[in-house]
Amino acid sequence: MLGVDRLPIREVDEAATEPASPAHEPAGDAQPQPVRTGSLFTSQAGVPQAQGEPMTREDKQRALDELHREHDAECPHCTVATGHTQTVFGEGDPDAELMFIGEAPGAEEDRIGRPFVGRSGQKLTEMIEALGLRREDVYIANVLKARPPQNATPTAAEAAKCGPYLERQIRIIQPKVIVALGSPASKLLLDTREGITRIRGQWHEYAGIPVMPTFHPAYLLRQYTPDNRRKVWSDLQAASRKLSAISQENR
Ligand code: URA
Repeated sequence: MLGVDRLPIREVDEAATEPASPAHEPAGDAQPQPVRTGSLFTSQAGVPQAQGEPMTREDKQRALDELHREHDAECPHCTVATGHTQTVFGEGDPDAELMFIGEAPGAEEDRIGRPFVGRSGQKLTEMIEALGLRREDVYIANVLKARPPQNATPTAAEAAKCGPYLERQIRIIQPKVIVALGSPASKLLLDTREGITRIRGQWHEYAGIPVMPTFHPAYLLRQYTPDNRRKVWSDLQAASRKLSAISQENR
């Protein structure tokens, strides 16, 4: 009656449903192509999509401020949101090409309200500067926005509840490359149960953005071996090379 003789059926995103890849390649030889697609958030509603005109830095800052307000109005939305003194939303350039994602605020971050300002934050700052960047050039956020009691590692359930805010941060910022620091960030973004030791140093992908998982600076400080230092540096250099390659392509 309407002149329609068939209905479109959405294609299944096979890449998003494939099992976690156990393939391991050292970062020094990291392949230029991402090997996996994270799928945890792809069906979440209300996520701003990058459509039409690109957002300016000011638009992005406004959108992040709005998201921050929304988050804090809804908090406590998960079990960890008890006992913290303030939320730690994230900081840096809203238009950053490189984004670092950690686990959750610690005591110092909870006190000051900024991510990565304690001991592991100093190490992260050193890493960023070793890449020839400043903290203000990148964006730094966490899986959880509130300090867990006793600095406990976020559970999968907590990460799934707080994670959509992180996803929306990522979609607003639209970084060219993400470095996932440690297991909780890597597992959440890449929708995998593989531990960081297995997946670090390989390119993965989240919502079309290349993701390099590496050891969390706190782990590195605890296990400050030449081998771990070499691995993290190799992962960061791979991220830096990826950024340069993407910039070249976009010229
Ligand atoms: N560890 C994290 O993962 N995030 C912080 O902000 C501080 C320490």
